[in-house]
Amino acid sequence: MTTLGVNIDHIANVRQARKTIEPDPVQFAFLAELGGADSITVHLREDRRHIQDRDVFLLKETIKTKLNLEMAATEEMLEIAKKLLPDYVTLVPEKREEVTTEGGLDLKSNVNYLKNFVENLKGSNIEVSAFIDPLVEQINYSKEIGFNSIELHTGKYAELTGQDQDEELQSIIESTHLANDLGLVINAGHGLNYNNVKKIAAINNMNELNIGHSIVARALAVGLEKSVREMKSLITSN
Ligand code: PXP
Repeated sequence: MTTLGVNIDHIANVRQARKTIEPDPVQFAFLAELGGADSITVHLREDRRHIQDRDVFLLKETIKTKLNLEMAATEEMLEIAKKLLPDYVTLVPEKREEVTTEGGLDLKSNVNYLKNFVENLKGSNIEVSAFIDPLVEQINYSKEIGFNSIELHTGKYAELTGQDQDEELQSIIESTHLANDLGLVINAGHGLNYNNVKKIAAINNMNELNIGHSIVARALAVGLEKSVREMKSLITSN
C-alpha cells in the first residue's frame, strides 16, 4: 500500500515570516503523525529560509515515524546528515532564487561526485533517495550511482491537464516499472493535491508520496474558522 510522507516546510515558512517561535514545525509533525502521516519530510535549505537546524535535530528526537531529510548534495549538508542520522536523505537540486524545487536532479553530469556522496551517507546507515524527473536515463543513473530509492517528480503531471496529463502519468507509470525492475524503491511527490493524487497513489509499487503545500493549505481551510472563533470569544467574553 502507498504511504504518506508529510512535508512540513510551509509551517516553518509561516514562522520565519515573523522570525518568531510559532507555529513550530515540531508540534505540527506531531499533529501530522496523529493524522496518519507515515513519515515527516523537511528540506533544510542552504539559505535556511524555512526549516532551521534546530528543527531537524528536535524532529529526530521527537517524531515516532520516519524522518526524511531533503537536502542538496553539498559538503555542509553531508556533515549535518551524518550528525543527524535521519532515516532517509532525499537529494534534491537547489537554486537560491527558486520558490520551490523546480526540477529533478541532473544525475548524468555528477555521477562520480554523487557516487561518493551516496556511499558516504549509506556508510552511516542512511537510505538515500534521488529526486528525479520520470525519465529512463535518470532512473538508470540512479541505479548506477547506488541510490536505494528514487522520488519521481510529479510537478509536471500536476501542472498539465487533459491528454497531456495522461501522457505524463504514463511516463510516471513506465518509470515506476523500470525502477522496480532495477530493485529501486519508488516514491513520488511535488504538486500533488486532493484532486490529482489518486491516480499516482494507485500506481503499482508506488511506495510513498511526499505532500506538503496542499495539506498545509487544507489545514488553513479547515482550521481558520475555529481559530477566529476562539479569538472572538476571548475578546467578547469580558
Ligand atoms: N518532494 C520534493 C523533493 C520537494 O522538494 C517537495 C517540495 O518541497 C515536495 C515533495 C512536496 O511538494 P508539495 O509541497 O508541492 O506537495
